Amino acid sequence: MNETIPYLPAFDDATLDASFAVLAREVAATRADHDAESFRLLWLGRKQGRLKLISEAWLKAAPAEARKPLGMRFNSLKQQIEGALEAAGTSVQALPSLDITLPGTIRAAGIAHPLLATMDRIVEVFHHLGYSTSLGPQVESDFYNFEALNFPENHPARDTQDTLQIAGQQSRPSRDRLLMRTHTSPVQIRTMVAQAPPLRIVIPGKVHRNDAADATHSPIFHQVEGLCVDTNITFSDLKGTLDHAMRALFGSAVKTRFFPSFFPFTEPSADVQISCIFCGGSGCRKCKHSGWIELLGCGMVDPAVFAAVTEERRRLGLDTDAYDPARITGFAFGMGVERIAMILHGVSDIGHFYSGDMRFLEQFA
Ligand code: PHE
Repeated sequence: MNETIPYLPAFDDATLDASFAVLAREVAATRADHDAESFRLLWLGRKQGRLKLISEAWLKAAPAEARKPLGMRFNSLKQQIEGALEAAGTSVQALPSLDITLPGTIRAAGIAHPLLATMDRIVEVFHHLGYSTSLGPQVESDFYNFEALNFPENHPARDTQDTLQIAGQQSRPSRDRLLMRTHTSPVQIRTMVAQAPPLRIVIPGKVHRNDAADATHSPIFHQVEGLCVDTNITFSDLKGTLDHAMRALFGSAVKTRFFPSFFPFTEPSADVQISCIFCGGSGCRKCKHSGWIELLGCGMVDPAVFAAVTEERRRLGLDTDAYDPARITGFAFGMGVERIAMILHGVSDIGHFYSGDMRFLEQFA
């Protein structure tokens, strides 16, 4: 495989430089028309490699004082050869043990987390109805999370949404104290303060509550909130909207029913149940033999909320007729994303969503 060994006529620096320049050109030329492995064999082959043959021949003939300059030049030639190999993505050491029959490294394409995928799906149903998305902060003030939503200070309704308070704010007025938001409803207020009606928004997001974790509860979870405000919005608009949304999410056979409930910021308020998607309503373990599954809270926006929004708009110098309850009505609803994802995918423990266990997550790929 190797051609002749070039003849080295003398050992002075100029002759060495010229001869090594010829070798360097030969390295470059042979790299261009060999694949990596045959190039490596040609130059670095342990027995017949050109580098070994040439260096042996030249060093043998060299006078003692020429050995060092020769050796240095052979070293840099070797580096050039190795560099040319590495540039091709092959390491000199790794080559002899390369086993091309081994399976390759598979890079799994990422997928949306099942919770985010469910959240997107819910949001999309409302986008198709003309809603747009609003977002708000997870660290929220007492005013937006509670006060403006008609939870007075020290009112027992706050207990159902116990939360983490941010430390060191005793010197602030209570409305400005920060906490981890307990629901996505504060974004209703933020949006109404910033925008006049008509309004149709969905609010996806993460919320926090001081709840012990069990199979169906997590202290951090996700909600999708909705708000529709305009003239002549009635409870039947609310019913029609949610009935449509539930059928879009769970299938056209699903029925909805509305039960009286209580939220400080809606009046009247309702809990919405859907007919059990597992048994079709005849009763099974999943619906505790009732035929119905409770899914979300909703109601007509309480005039006290419009009043708080108007007060805040006044404080900010914005137009104060925008949310006049004599002219404007609205409805709101809020649903838990985890609960819906669990029902849609038959997941029995909420903890699976946060475990990061690939065996669980891969099922959604
Ligand atoms: N914010 C309520 C909760 O988290 C849900 C809700 C939203 C109820 C909007 C009515 C209207 O429990």
